[in-house]
Amino acid sequence: MNNSEYIHEAWSIVENGFDPAKQKASESLFSIGNGNMGQRANFEEDYSGKSMQGTYIAGVYYPDKTRVGWWKNGYPEYFAKVLNAPYFTGLHVVIGDELLDLAQWQVISFKRVLDIKRGVLVRTCEVQSPNGKRLAVESMRFMSMIRKDIAAVKFSVKSLNFRDIVSFVPYVDGDVKNQDANYDEKFWQITDMVNEPKQAYLQSKTLKTGFEVGFAMSADLYFNGQKVSAMPERQKSDKKIQTSITWRIGEGDALSCVNFISVNKSMDFESEMIKQVCLKNVELARSAGFDVLLKEHTEWWANKWETSDIEIEGDVAAQQGIRFNIFQLWQTYTGEDARLNIGPKGFTGEKYGGSTYWDTEAYCVPFYMSTASGEVVRNLLIYRWKQLGKAIENAEKLGFSNGAALYPMVTMNGEECHNEWEITFEEIHRNGAIAYAIYNYVNYTSDVDYLAEYGLEVLIAISRFWAQRVNWSDDKGKYVMLGVTGPNEYENNVNNNWYTNYIATWCLRYTLETIDLVKRINAGRLAAVLEMTAFDALIEVELWKKIIDNIYLPQSKGIFIQQDGFLDKDLTPVSGIPVKQRPINQHWSWDRILRSCYIKQADVLQGLFFFEHEFDLETIHRNYEFYEPLTVHESSLSPCVHSILASLIGKTDDAYQLYLRTSRLDLDDYNHEVHEGLHITSMAGTWMSLVMGFGGLRVNHGRISLNPVLPEKWQSLSFKILFRNRLLKIKVTDNEVDVRRERGEVLTVMINGNEVAI
Ligand code: BGC
Repeated sequence: MNNSEYIHEAWSIVENGFDPAKQKASESLFSIGNGNMGQRANFEEDYSGKSMQGTYIAGVYYPDKTRVGWWKNGYPEYFAKVLNAPYFTGLHVVIGDELLDLAQWQVISFKRVLDIKRGVLVRTCEVQSPNGKRLAVESMRFMSMIRKDIAAVKFSVKSLNFRDIVSFVPYVDGDVKNQDANYDEKFWQITDMVNEPKQAYLQSKTLKTGFEVGFAMSADLYFNGQKVSAMPERQKSDKKIQTSITWRIGEGDALSCVNFISVNKSMDFESEMIKQVCLKNVELARSAGFDVLLKEHTEWWANKWETSDIEIEGDVAAQQGIRFNIFQLWQTYTGEDARLNIGPKGFTGEKYGGSTYWDTEAYCVPFYMSTASGEVVRNLLIYRWKQLGKAIENAEKLGFSNGAALYPMVTMNGEECHNEWEITFEEIHRNGAIAYAIYNYVNYTSDVDYLAEYGLEVLIAISRFWAQRVNWSDDKGKYVMLGVTGPNEYENNVNNNWYTNYIATWCLRYTLETIDLVKRINAGRLAAVLEMTAFDALIEVELWKKIIDNIYLPQSKGIFIQQDGFLDKDLTPVSGIPVKQRPINQHWSWDRILRSCYIKQADVLQGLFFFEHEFDLETIHRNYEFYEPLTVHESSLSPCVHSILASLIGKTDDAYQLYLRTSRLDLDDYNHEVHEGLHITSMAGTWMSLVMGFGGLRVNHGRISLNPVLPEKWQSLSFKILFRNRLLKIKVTDNEVDVRRERGEVLTVMINGNEVAI
């Protein structure tokens, strides 16, 4: 069988048929995880076709030595790789003397389903071995949202025409590598292996970083639905723990292996305790049984959907897109642990490395803020607060002083680990997004104590960076910022990127406002922070005000100019690029891209999105009309921002097309790269384009406002938001906006400009 199709369904991702050429893409699309660990949808059984095996454990990384053509002073020594960890859901399946392998066997029928309502991956297929044995195969697996260290796999075969011995060999394979290792090194060293029929345990340690992770495995065998006690046999291996369980079956008989795996790490336990915890937890899971674990897990999802679901009536493709995105976000980050963050690929691939980009603050914060308790985003902010010292060190390495902080472009532990000079040194706007997230959080939750306790320190350090990064230009009679890369990475080393200059001075303004606010709510704490940071209230404040009043913001005829010189470019719109040359980053030389006017992702428009309240609608409209035709959206982060602005200015058709592009980016593989993993962080942008775009949700001065617009095709759009101890359900139809308070006290909301008590 060499063809398959993905079906549009409201609550699941479905692939009908098997196409080996799509296997890697499907492995990404059907990934599962639970915030603590995750896996690509690799087959449990052997598969000798093209595949990318990927198992990832949150927070566990390896500092892979930097590899660049020419070393530049200031480069980080390493790139933090998201580590491919021991593979723990594997199962060799042997029928007689034939090894089940879908690349070698004939696939008669095949269906895989990612049940996003329940968080379960299911596969059913009918296959025939080279010797003519026909088999129905069924597998089901999940990673428990309740027991974050537990994964469970149920794998069944049914004989359709034979009588033979079936062996299941569940295993944990410690012999794993990253495909993207810079020097082809191994990143793990096995430190403990117990391969007994009654006890299977493997512990492995990451080289250099010394993370230890333990894996315990325990399996049961079922014959025609009845548990049977087969004597497992140990199978010797240096790098794997594996036990073989064997049973004879005849035509019509079914045999299932139910395997439980517990995964624990030294981030949570003393390393000498890991084994004990793993072995105990795996047995607890096994005695609870697959069905009980599944029930707890699906109840967690039911509760999650209760506050996070978005319903779109009249458009299954759009519906599937948003639910898939919400599902992946929750699989990647559940928010209890302030040491973790949201990697751009989550647990679905290796590309990008690191776990934290500006994506978290700029894109993910609103989603988690509105669909979970404030704690989740607070943890994300505290993550950065904890790394402030490293951000100050990072700035010092680049020549800044006096407690100025430059947060990294990519990090795992606070240290910068990105190493392309134009991004590492120049894409400094990321600092602004971190300040913006603090503003966003406090604006939404009213948690001003956060500012006093943590936020202010971060804001002062970021503002100090900006105050040192600008310089006075005699020629312009203004402060300028030279040699930067804006969000549009298709331009480097530019002067006066409008977005960066704007957000820099916004940070200075916001920090000054925060100093005033903390003075009012907690003068003692303000004094302590100013002392701790050796803040010079006269000199620094005076300088900041001067910069705020005199920053250079390039503009012409009502358009904010992306950077100096942008208008000298040939401004032929994107529609003039032949389709076969798109995406340009896969077809054009880099210098051609740099010289062109084509914009990788929202840049000026990113600023207008963040600071919409500081601009009038006409200005936003004009700038949208100028920049949208020049934008190629070759970053997944781009279409959502354009979609929100399009909704705002009443270009609902544009907003809809851009929405589809963001929400189905991976499902429809717009950028031809889904085989590398999913675009997790941009999925939060998809949520924004629905709730903030079509839903028109804003929060100003503690009050919610809604200005919804509905794409023509949709009968309705419903979403829920948590806001200051209330749960609101908003349903938008063509002629009505229905807002219900499902939890919490009365609240006043502005709907299309009218004040309404809910
Ligand atoms: C984008 C960045 C983003 C990174 C990770 C890049 O392609 O240009 O803005 O931070 O991907 O998502």
